[in-house]
Amino acid sequence: MCGIVGYAGSRQAAPILLEGLAKLEYRGYDSAGLCIHGPRGLETARAKGRLQALREKTGDGAALPGCLGIGHTRWATHGAPLERNAHPHLSDDGAIAVVHNGIIENYLTLKERLITEGCWFSSDTDTEVVANLIAQYYRQSRDLLQAVRQTVGRLEGSYALAVVCRENPQQLVAVKKDSPLIFGFGQGENFVASDVPAILKYTRKVAYLDDGDMAVFTATSVFFYNAAGDPVRKVPETIAWDLSDAERGGYPHFMLKEIFEQPKALRDTICPRLPGQQVVLDDLNLSDRDWQSLRRVYVVACGSAYYVGCLGKYILEKTCRVPTEPIQASEFRYASPVLDAHTLVIIISQSGETADTLAALREAKRQGARTLAIVNVVGSAIAKAAHQVLYTWAGPEIAVATTKAYSTQLAAFCLVALRMAQALGTMPPAEWAAFREALGKLPDMVEQTLSQAHIAQVQYYASALFDHHDVFFIGRHLDSATCLEGSLKLKEVAYVHAEAYPAGELKHGPISLIEPGTLVVAVATVRELFDKTMANIKEVKARGAEVLCVTTQSMAGEAEKTADHVLTVPDTHPLLQPSLSVLPLQTFAYYTALARGCDVDKPRNLAKSVTVE
Ligand code: F6R
Repeated sequence: MCGIVGYAGSRQAAPILLEGLAKLEYRGYDSAGLCIHGPRGLETARAKGRLQALREKTGDGAALPGCLGIGHTRWATHGAPLERNAHPHLSDDGAIAVVHNGIIENYLTLKERLITEGCWFSSDTDTEVVANLIAQYYRQSRDLLQAVRQTVGRLEGSYALAVVCRENPQQLVAVKKDSPLIFGFGQGENFVASDVPAILKYTRKVAYLDDGDMAVFTATSVFFYNAAGDPVRKVPETIAWDLSDAERGGYPHFMLKEIFEQPKALRDTICPRLPGQQVVLDDLNLSDRDWQSLRRVYVVACGSAYYVGCLGKYILEKTCRVPTEPIQASEFRYASPVLDAHTLVIIISQSGETADTLAALREAKRQGARTLAIVNVVGSAIAKAAHQVLYTWAGPEIAVATTKAYSTQLAAFCLVALRMAQALGTMPPAEWAAFREALGKLPDMVEQTLSQAHIAQVQYYASALFDHHDVFFIGRHLDSATCLEGSLKLKEVAYVHAEAYPAGELKHGPISLIEPGTLVVAVATVRELFDKTMANIKEVKARGAEVLCVTTQSMAGEAEKTADHVLTVPDTHPLLQPSLSVLPLQTFAYYTALARGCDVDKPRNLAKSVTVE
């Protein structure tokens, strides 16, 4: 959601900013813009729509000469996605230019005040208020750092800001609160950006800004200050992954690449933590006694990460016998959760920046709960704020629709279940060992599932079934949670109306929507409930539905007697079966989206990193 890049150096800034913005496209946006400090002072160019429109408008940046500048991709919140609402925004005197990610909650009060003071506005955005406030303070002190500091002191809400000033051709100021911002240390050049891929071509040395941090920099110098205004030292961290990890590498889409990266991502997440016959979570500082003191678990997350929590409930209650409640992060704070030192709040997030999830984490801490975050992005706000962090090692996930992050989150959850069950002694040793062993084999099983033959079969079904307008996903127990993810994937990337229900719930209402030709995807991998799910399939077939069933190889023969079409996955440990049964749902959504001509990696209206509530 909104991407920021800033550059100070000796090269032409505009092409570097355009290139950086292209690497942030995955975050989701609907307009883009640049402001360059060059021989003609501050010059901006903005365009509605894809980055290509901005490229064309600026001759790939050549029309904006200068070696210092800021760029932005905007995901509209305040004001329609129009050119006049695109960033950068200038103060009314043209002295200050600002790009912003986040929401200024008190912008209306500030705006009204500024208007009475004679200020005028040309956009509907909250950001223009920031530009005008900085300009007002700057006119008093002629000190950009001080003006930005005074301005943020008046802002409520979230922001990552990069600011340039007409009178300071060398200097860029960046500041953040509750929206991500990193600083990149170059050689004779320096950068700020919302995320690492934007600057990775130029530097691997980065510093993650903490809330309240400011960076004041030129091509050759940088000074950092904390929220109190005190100078702070930031030791550069080295990014371990390559730009190629964040590029398509021969695949037509990031989503497909990331689907096929799942075996590696799972290996990296699981294998180092299962040495010998053990489970070793040395990232966590929790003793057996700590685990034993827990009476209740909440799993708090958004979207697909929340669906991992829905699976997690079944897994944790089965293995650890601890009451576990998944809850959407956007609801958590308002739901009066029962929290104390005996409650563990497991936070799940790929980006580590999701605004609702971060706010829920803070609330859980405030109420005295223990917090454990399962996060993919190292150094992200959630990773920093949680008491304990267990990283998923999925590598950068670029496609808006999550696949490999989801799979590794689920695997990380299983690692937590194993560790907790060990501390609690809730599983017979042989059962614990079997679960552990199966988890170690999961990456190979995923690789086996994503075979050529499997892909060909999914492609066939997608090409035959892509035209359905409504799809119902049904399943029982773990399969019902997998259905939630399968239906979300189809909605997101293929724009097909899809609903997921526990199979037994269907006849309590939704079955009225089944009519001749309706597509029902039934996930039936839970052996003890297989017959019941088959009975539910018969119910929808009796009303004319066409049924595609996902089941295990050992139950496929039986499923073929009932469903119209069957997709199989290998048999594995029952608690790990969802990690395999989700794979055909991911690939089905992908190939259905292709058949429907959708922009798979950048679905409409969606942003990868949801940094506003
Ligand atoms: C769906 C998807 C989203 C995210 C959700 C949480 O494919 O990607 O539903 O799972 O926005 O994002 P993170 O995990 O970054 O907190």
